[in-house]
Amino acid sequence: MIILGFETSCDETSVALISGSNKKQNVDLITNLVSSSVFLHSKTGGIIPEIAAREQVKYIIPLLKRALNENNLNKENIDAIAVTVGPGLIGSLLVGVETAKTIAYVWDKPIVPVNHLYGHIYANWINDGVKKDILFPAIALIVSGGHTDLVLMKNHRDLKWLGGTRDDAAGEALDKIGRLLNLEYPAGAQIERLAKNVLLDKYKFPRPLLDSGDFDFSFSGLKTAVLREIEKNKNATKDLKNICYSTQKAIFDVIIKKTLQACKKYDAKSLFLGGGVAANQKLRDEFTLIIENNKLKINFFVPTKSLCTDNAAMICSAAFYNYENASWKNVEANPDAYFD
Ligand code: KG4
Ligand code: ZN
Repeated sequence: MIILGFETSCDETSVALISGSNKKQNVDLITNLVSSSVFLHSKTGGIIPEIAAREQVKYIIPLLKRALNENNLNKENIDAIAVTVGPGLIGSLLVGVETAKTIAYVWDKPIVPVNHLYGHIYANWINDGVKKDILFPAIALIVSGGHTDLVLMKNHRDLKWLGGTRDDAAGEALDKIGRLLNLEYPAGAQIERLAKNVLLDKYKFPRPLLDSGDFDFSFSGLKTAVLREIEKNKNATKDLKNICYSTQKAIFDVIIKKTLQACKKYDAKSLFLGGGVAANQKLRDEFTLIIENNKLKINFFVPTKSLCTDNAAMICSAAFYNYENASWKNVEANPDAYFD
Protein backbone atom coordinates (compact mmCIF):
# COMPACT_ATOMS: atom_id res chain seq x y z
CA MET A 1 0.00 0.00 0.00
CA ILE A 2 1.10 3.58 -0.60
CA ILE A 3 0.68 6.06 2.26
CA LEU A 4 0.78 9.82 1.80
CA GLY A 5 1.81 11.60 5.01
CA PHE A 6 1.90 15.10 6.46
CA GLU A 7 4.00 16.41 9.34
CA THR A 8 3.65 19.99 10.60
CA SER A 9 4.11 19.79 14.37
CA CYS A 10 6.78 22.50 14.73
CA ASP A 11 8.62 24.62 12.14
CA GLU A 12 8.96 21.94 9.45
CA THR A 13 6.39 21.28 6.75
CA SER A 14 6.89 17.81 5.37
CA VAL A 15 5.05 15.66 2.84
CA ALA A 16 6.13 12.07 2.20
CA LEU A 17 5.13 8.92 0.37
CA ILE A 18 6.06 5.43 1.50
CA SER A 19 5.14 2.00 0.27
CA GLY A 20 4.56 -0.83 2.72
CA SER A 21 3.75 -4.50 2.45
CA ASN A 22 2.97 -7.08 5.13
CA LYS A 23 5.45 -9.38 3.41
CA LYS A 24 8.37 -7.06 4.17
CA GLN A 25 9.99 -6.15 7.48
CA ASN A 26 10.52 -2.51 6.52
CA VAL A 27 8.67 0.15 4.59
CA ASP A 28 10.20 1.71 1.47
CA LEU A 29 10.63 5.42 1.08
CA ILE A 30 9.26 6.92 -2.14
CA THR A 31 9.86 10.55 -1.27
CA ASN A 32 10.29 12.74 1.80
CA LEU A 33 10.09 16.49 1.17
CA VAL A 34 10.86 18.85 4.04
CA SER A 35 10.62 22.66 4.06
CA SER A 36 11.54 24.55 7.18
CA SER A 37 10.93 28.11 8.28
CA VAL A 38 13.83 27.84 10.72
CA PHE A 39 15.75 30.60 8.93
CA LEU A 40 13.01 32.99 10.10
CA HIS A 41 13.53 31.92 13.71
CA SER A 42 17.30 31.52 13.83
CA LYS A 43 17.96 35.01 15.23
CA THR A 44 15.18 34.92 17.83
CA GLY A 45 16.48 31.89 19.71
CA GLY A 46 13.30 29.86 19.30
CA ILE A 47 10.26 29.20 17.16
CA ILE A 48 7.65 31.94 16.89
CA PRO A 49 4.47 29.83 16.55
CA GLU A 50 2.39 32.27 14.46
CA ILE A 51 5.20 32.73 11.94
CA ALA A 52 5.77 28.96 11.70
CA ALA A 53 2.08 28.26 11.03
CA ARG A 54 1.76 31.05 8.47
CA GLU A 55 4.72 29.68 6.51
CA GLN A 56 3.29 26.15 6.67
CA VAL A 57 0.09 27.34 5.01
CA LYS A 58 2.24 28.58 2.11
CA TYR A 59 4.38 25.42 1.78
CA ILE A 60 2.02 22.49 2.23
CA ILE A 61 0.10 22.33 -1.08
CA PRO A 62 3.15 23.01 -3.30
CA LEU A 63 4.98 20.22 -1.44
CA LEU A 64 2.05 17.85 -1.96
CA LYS A 65 1.95 18.60 -5.68
CA ARG A 66 5.71 18.14 -5.98
CA ALA A 67 5.67 14.83 -4.08
CA LEU A 68 3.04 13.40 -6.43
CA ASN A 69 4.35 14.90 -9.69
CA GLU A 70 7.98 13.94 -9.17
CA ASN A 71 6.92 10.32 -8.67
CA ASN A 72 4.29 10.24 -11.42
CA LEU A 73 1.63 9.41 -8.86
CA ASN A 74 -1.88 10.73 -8.48
CA LYS A 75 -4.78 10.30 -6.06
CA GLU A 76 -5.68 6.88 -7.55
CA ASN A 77 -2.34 5.49 -6.34
CA ILE A 78 -2.77 6.58 -2.73
CA ASP A 79 -4.23 4.01 -0.31
CA ALA A 80 -4.27 6.07 2.89
CA ILE A 81 -3.42 9.47 4.36
CA ALA A 82 -1.31 9.78 7.54
CA VAL A 83 -1.04 12.93 9.60
CA THR A 84 0.65 14.08 12.81
CA VAL A 85 -2.04 15.05 15.32
CA GLY A 86 0.33 15.93 18.20
CA PRO A 87 2.22 16.73 20.30
CA GLY A 88 3.24 20.08 18.86
CA LEU A 89 2.26 23.69 18.31
CA ILE A 90 -1.49 24.01 17.85
CA GLY A 91 -1.37 26.43 14.90
CA SER A 92 1.18 24.29 13.09
CA LEU A 93 -0.63 21.01 13.79
CA LEU A 94 -3.88 22.48 12.48
CA VAL A 95 -2.31 23.23 9.09
CA GLY A 96 -1.37 19.56 8.59
CA VAL A 97 -4.49 18.08 10.16
CA GLU A 98 -6.96 20.26 8.25
CA THR A 99 -5.11 19.69 4.97
CA ALA A 100 -5.03 15.91 5.52
CA LYS A 101 -8.70 15.79 6.51
CA THR A 102 -9.74 17.78 3.47
CA ILE A 103 -7.79 15.52 1.14
CA ALA A 104 -9.13 12.38 2.84
CA TYR A 105 -12.67 13.68 2.39
CA VAL A 106 -12.31 14.93 -1.19
CA TRP A 107 -10.35 11.88 -2.41
CA ASP A 108 -12.40 9.50 -0.26
CA LYS A 109 -9.35 7.90 1.40
CA PRO A 110 -8.83 6.41 4.86
CA ILE A 111 -6.99 8.69 7.29
CA VAL A 112 -4.62 7.56 10.06
CA PRO A 113 -3.93 9.95 12.96
CA VAL A 114 -0.33 9.62 14.18
CA ASN A 115 1.40 10.62 17.41
CA HIS A 116 4.59 12.50 16.47
CA LEU A 117 6.60 10.63 19.14
CA TYR A 118 5.61 7.28 17.65
CA GLY A 119 6.81 8.72 14.35
CA HIS A 120 10.32 9.26 15.74
CA ILE A 121 10.40 5.61 16.84
CA TYR A 122 9.04 4.30 13.52
CA ALA A 123 11.70 6.18 11.52
CA ASN A 124 13.69 3.05 12.39
CA TRP A 125 11.42 0.89 10.23
CA ILE A 126 12.18 2.80 7.04
CA ASN A 127 14.37 0.81 4.68
CA ASP A 128 17.86 2.30 4.46
CA GLY A 129 19.44 -0.52 2.50
CA VAL A 130 20.81 -2.29 5.58
CA LYS A 131 19.14 -5.49 6.77
CA LYS A 132 17.29 -4.79 10.00
CA ASP A 133 16.72 -7.54 12.53
CA ILE A 134 14.20 -5.73 14.67
CA LEU A 135 13.34 -7.95 17.63
CA PHE A 136 11.10 -7.25 20.63
CA PRO A 137 11.22 -6.33 23.44
CA ALA A 138 12.89 -3.10 22.43
CA ILE A 139 13.85 0.13 24.15
CA ALA A 140 13.33 3.38 22.26
CA LEU A 141 15.09 6.59 23.21
CA ILE A 142 13.52 9.73 21.76
CA VAL A 143 15.86 12.72 22.00
CA SER A 144 14.57 15.82 20.27
CA GLY A 145 14.03 19.52 20.77
CA GLY A 146 10.77 18.91 22.61
CA HIS A 147 11.27 15.46 24.16
CA THR A 148 13.61 13.13 25.98
CA ASP A 149 11.71 9.88 26.55
CA LEU A 150 12.54 6.26 27.23
CA VAL A 151 9.93 3.82 26.00
CA LEU A 152 9.60 0.05 26.34
CA MET A 153 8.16 -1.55 23.22
CA LYS A 154 7.02 -5.15 23.69
CA ASN A 155 5.45 -5.19 20.26
CA HIS A 156 3.69 -2.90 17.80
CA ARG A 157 0.81 -1.23 19.69
CA ASP A 158 2.30 -2.30 23.03
CA LEU A 159 4.36 0.66 24.21
CA LYS A 160 5.05 1.73 27.78
CA TRP A 161 6.60 5.05 28.73
CA LEU A 162 9.39 4.49 31.26
CA GLY A 163 10.52 8.03 31.97
CA GLY A 164 11.37 11.36 30.47
CA THR A 165 12.61 14.83 31.13
CA ARG A 166 11.35 16.73 34.15
CA ASP A 167 12.25 20.07 32.55
CA ASP A 168 14.26 20.81 29.39
CA ALA A 169 14.58 18.17 26.68
CA ALA A 170 18.10 17.25 25.51
CA GLY A 171 17.79 19.26 22.27
CA GLU A 172 16.19 22.16 24.11
CA ALA A 173 19.15 22.21 26.54
CA LEU A 174 21.58 22.27 23.60
CA ASP A 175 19.58 25.07 21.95
CA LYS A 176 19.41 27.17 25.14
CA ILE A 177 23.11 26.69 25.89
CA GLY A 178 23.80 27.58 22.26
CA ARG A 179 21.98 30.84 22.84
CA LEU A 180 24.20 31.59 25.85
CA LEU A 181 27.14 31.03 23.50
CA ASN A 182 25.66 33.33 20.81
CA LEU A 183 25.02 30.44 18.41
CA GLU A 184 22.07 30.55 16.06
CA TYR A 185 18.92 28.53 16.77
CA PRO A 186 18.81 25.52 16.64
CA ALA A 187 22.27 24.94 18.09
CA GLY A 188 22.57 21.14 18.35
CA ALA A 189 24.37 20.55 15.05
CA GLN A 190 26.66 23.59 15.55
CA ILE A 191 27.62 22.36 19.02
CA GLU A 192 28.44 18.98 17.49
CA ARG A 193 30.67 20.63 14.85
CA LEU A 194 32.46 22.84 17.37
CA ALA A 195 33.08 19.91 19.74
CA LYS A 196 34.23 17.55 17.01
CA ASN A 197 38.00 17.44 17.56
CA VAL A 198 38.03 17.90 21.34
CA LEU A 199 39.11 14.88 23.36
CA LEU A 200 39.15 16.13 26.94
CA ASP A 201 36.22 17.01 29.21
CA LYS A 202 37.67 20.32 30.46
CA TYR A 203 34.64 21.74 32.28
CA LYS A 204 33.11 18.58 33.76
CA PHE A 205 29.58 20.02 33.95
CA PRO A 206 27.08 18.22 36.26
CA ARG A 207 25.36 15.02 35.08
CA PRO A 208 21.84 15.59 36.49
CA LEU A 209 19.99 12.51 37.83
CA LEU A 210 22.81 10.22 36.62
CA ASP A 211 22.39 7.87 39.58
CA SER A 212 18.71 8.49 40.38
CA GLY A 213 17.82 4.86 39.65
CA ASP A 214 14.78 5.83 37.58
CA PHE A 215 14.42 6.77 33.91
CA ASP A 216 13.89 10.49 34.40
CA PHE A 217 16.08 13.26 33.04
CA SER A 218 16.67 16.90 33.98
CA PHE A 219 18.81 19.24 31.93
CA SER A 220 17.87 22.74 33.09
CA GLY A 221 20.61 22.72 35.78
CA LEU A 222 23.20 22.08 33.11
CA LYS A 223 22.23 25.32 31.40
CA THR A 224 22.70 27.14 34.72
CA ALA A 225 26.12 25.50 35.20
CA VAL A 226 27.25 26.69 31.75
CA LEU A 227 25.92 30.19 32.47
CA ARG A 228 27.84 30.26 35.77
CA GLU A 229 31.03 29.24 33.99
CA ILE A 230 30.56 32.00 31.42
CA GLU A 231 29.96 34.59 34.16
CA LYS A 232 32.90 33.40 36.25
CA ASN A 233 35.34 33.01 33.42
CA LYS A 234 35.20 35.85 30.90
CA ASN A 235 37.36 33.84 28.50
CA ALA A 236 34.91 30.93 28.48
CA THR A 237 33.01 32.13 25.41
CA LYS A 238 36.37 32.24 23.60
CA ASP A 239 36.79 28.60 24.57
CA LEU A 240 33.70 27.55 22.62
CA LYS A 241 35.07 24.18 21.52
CA ASN A 242 35.67 22.95 25.05
CA ILE A 243 32.37 24.34 26.38
CA CYS A 244 30.52 22.59 23.56
CA TYR A 245 32.34 19.31 24.11
CA SER A 246 31.74 19.33 27.88
CA THR A 247 28.07 20.24 27.39
CA GLN A 248 27.52 17.44 24.91
CA LYS A 249 29.42 14.97 27.07
CA ALA A 250 27.36 15.78 30.18
CA ILE A 251 24.08 15.25 28.29
CA PHE A 252 25.20 12.12 26.44
CA ASP A 253 26.69 10.45 29.55
CA VAL A 254 23.30 10.62 31.30
CA ILE A 255 21.30 9.59 28.23
CA ILE A 256 23.53 6.61 27.45
CA LYS A 257 23.74 5.32 31.01
CA LYS A 258 19.98 5.43 31.58
CA THR A 259 19.16 3.96 28.19
CA LEU A 260 21.46 1.00 28.77
CA GLN A 261 20.00 0.53 32.27
CA ALA A 262 16.55 0.34 30.69
CA CYS A 263 17.82 -2.20 28.12
CA LYS A 264 19.23 -4.34 30.93
CA LYS A 265 16.18 -4.10 33.16
CA TYR A 266 13.77 -5.11 30.40
CA ASP A 267 16.08 -7.56 28.67
CA ALA A 268 15.76 -5.65 25.41
CA LYS A 269 16.79 -7.33 22.18
CA SER A 270 16.74 -4.08 20.19
CA LEU A 271 17.51 -0.45 20.92
CA PHE A 272 16.22 2.42 18.76
CA LEU A 273 17.15 6.08 18.79
CA GLY A 274 14.98 8.78 17.27
CA GLY A 275 14.56 12.56 17.23
CA GLY A 276 16.81 15.42 16.10
CA VAL A 277 19.57 14.83 18.66
CA ALA A 278 19.94 11.26 17.37
CA ALA A 279 21.42 12.85 14.21
CA ASN A 280 24.51 13.58 16.34
CA GLN A 281 27.36 11.37 15.13
CA LYS A 282 29.13 11.47 18.49
CA LEU A 283 26.02 10.11 20.24
CA ARG A 284 25.61 7.40 17.58
CA ASP A 285 29.29 6.41 17.85
CA GLU A 286 29.26 6.37 21.66
CA PHE A 287 26.26 4.01 21.73
CA THR A 288 27.87 1.72 19.14
CA LEU A 289 31.16 1.68 21.04
CA ILE A 290 29.70 0.98 24.46
CA ILE A 291 27.49 -1.81 23.09
CA GLU A 292 30.51 -3.38 21.37
CA ASN A 293 32.91 -2.92 24.28
CA ASN A 294 30.47 -4.47 26.74
CA LYS A 295 29.51 -7.23 24.27
CA LEU A 296 25.85 -6.44 24.82
CA LYS A 297 23.49 -8.72 22.93
CA ILE A 298 21.36 -5.98 21.53
CA ASN A 299 20.60 -4.88 17.96
CA PHE A 300 21.17 -1.14 17.78
CA PHE A 301 19.23 0.98 15.26
CA VAL A 302 19.32 4.65 14.47
CA PRO A 303 17.59 6.22 11.45
CA THR A 304 19.44 7.89 8.58
CA LYS A 305 20.27 11.41 9.81
CA SER A 306 17.67 13.15 7.63
CA LEU A 307 15.00 10.90 9.18
CA CYS A 308 16.01 11.79 12.77
CA THR A 309 14.82 15.39 12.52
CA ASP A 310 11.10 16.00 11.91
CA ASN A 311 9.80 14.51 8.67
CA ALA A 312 6.63 13.00 7.23
CA ALA A 313 8.20 9.68 6.18
CA MET A 314 8.37 8.59 9.82
CA ILE A 315 4.68 9.52 10.19
CA CYS A 316 3.81 7.30 7.20
CA SER A 317 5.85 4.47 8.72
CA ALA A 318 4.09 4.77 12.10
CA ALA A 319 0.74 4.79 10.26
CA PHE A 320 1.60 1.60 8.38
CA TYR A 321 2.47 -0.39 11.53
CA ASN A 322 -0.39 1.06 13.60
CA TYR A 323 -2.96 1.20 10.85
CA GLU A 324 -6.42 2.30 11.90
CA ASN A 325 -8.95 3.78 9.59
CA ALA A 326 -10.39 6.79 11.39
CA SER A 327 -13.18 8.90 9.99
CA TRP A 328 -11.87 12.30 8.97
CA LYS A 329 -14.66 13.70 11.18
CA ASN A 330 -12.95 12.28 14.28
CA VAL A 331 -9.38 13.34 13.55
CA GLU A 332 -8.35 16.36 15.57
CA ALA A 333 -5.13 18.15 16.43
CA ASN A 334 -4.03 17.34 19.98
CA PRO A 335 -1.07 19.53 21.03
CA ASP A 336 -0.73 17.64 24.34
CA ALA A 337 -0.73 14.10 22.90
CA TYR A 338 1.77 11.85 24.67
CA PHE A 339 2.26 8.17 25.46
CA ASP A 340 -0.77 6.51 27.10
O1 KG4 B 1 13.18 16.01 16.23
P1 KG4 B 1 13.40 17.45 15.95
O2 KG4 B 1 13.63 17.87 14.51
O3 KG4 B 1 12.21 18.33 16.48
C1 KG4 B 1 11.47 18.02 17.63
O4 KG4 B 1 10.58 17.14 17.54
O5 KG4 B 1 11.80 18.65 18.66
O6 KG4 B 1 14.63 17.90 16.86
C2 KG4 B 1 15.18 19.18 16.83
C3 KG4 B 1 16.31 19.23 17.85
C4 KG4 B 1 16.88 20.63 18.09
O7 KG4 B 1 16.93 20.84 19.49
C5 KG4 B 1 18.27 20.56 17.49
O8 KG4 B 1 19.22 21.40 18.14
C6 KG4 B 1 18.61 19.11 17.67
O9 KG4 B 1 17.41 18.41 17.42
N1 KG4 B 1 19.63 18.61 16.73
C7 KG4 B 1 20.84 18.15 17.10
C8 KG4 B 1 21.52 17.82 15.92
N2 KG4 B 1 20.70 18.10 14.85
C9 KG4 B 1 19.55 18.58 15.37
N3 KG4 B 1 21.38 17.98 18.32
C10 KG4 B 1 22.62 17.48 18.38
N4 KG4 B 1 23.36 17.16 17.30
C11 KG4 B 1 22.85 17.31 16.04
N5 KG4 B 1 23.57 16.98 14.98
ZN1 ZN C 1 10.20 15.70 16.50
